[in-house]
Amino acid sequence: MKLTIGATPEIVGVQVADRLGQCLEGVKAPLVCPASGTTPAPLYHELVRRHRSGGIDLSTWYFVGLDEWVGLNGSDEGSCRWWLDKDLFLPSGIGQDRICFFDGRASDLAGECAATERFIAGRGGMNVVILGIGTNGHIAMNEPGTDVAARSRVVELHPTTQSVGQKYFTSQTELEKGITLGLGTIREARHIFLLATGEHKASIIQQALEGPVSADVPASLLRDHPGLEVWLDEAAAGRLSRG
Ligand code: PGA
Repeated sequence: MKLTIGATPEIVGVQVADRLGQCLEGVKAPLVCPASGTTPAPLYHELVRRHRSGGIDLSTWYFVGLDEWVGLNGSDEGSCRWWLDKDLFLPSGIGQDRICFFDGRASDLAGECAATERFIAGRGGMNVVILGIGTNGHIAMNEPGTDVAARSRVVELHPTTQSVGQKYFTSQTELEKGITLGLGTIREARHIFLLATGEHKASIIQQALEGPVSADVPASLLRDHPGLEVWLDEAAAGRLSRG
């Protein structure tokens, strides 16, 4: 595991953008899985800035969604897809044909999962997965107690996820279930970037990186992945013992 600590969330965004560029250099049509959420937003703003100034060409990339709330899709303000449209896909003009994303409103959610797994396999796997971490240790919507080998599926959401998730919406929203890539799917990616910023993430980051490897803290189940890179700001790194 490689650990990098940047002073601020914005600096972390720049550092991860540099590294992403490095990892994908020379890859013709990379497949990237971007988490939605507060944490990766500075990275996406930096990627859009570089795309617009000609530093990188996002139009050659393919994207697969990490997760979505069941009952919502990109037409719902506050959904995972809505945030990614706003922060990354629309400002960089990514074509719809380059994006595979769970439709949480679909009547056949198992079909959404199968189509997503097929899309990933059809593109030869994911080059990079960009992840945040929940304060309960979840990765995507793989909640505490998750199976390390799980594939894409519908899950019941942990109470913490249901209440913290309200921050993405302007009014109270029912968030009982999610549709998510499984940890088994995520672990097949060549590179896994785990990002965390802010003091409120310091305790769970300490547990994920230095505590027991356990399904109680799903992020800890990534620790043995050879391509894991952890990117923290100083606040999120504040409880690590390694100094
Ligand atoms: P956040 O979400 O980046 O909005 O903190 C992280 C997560 O719940 O995975």
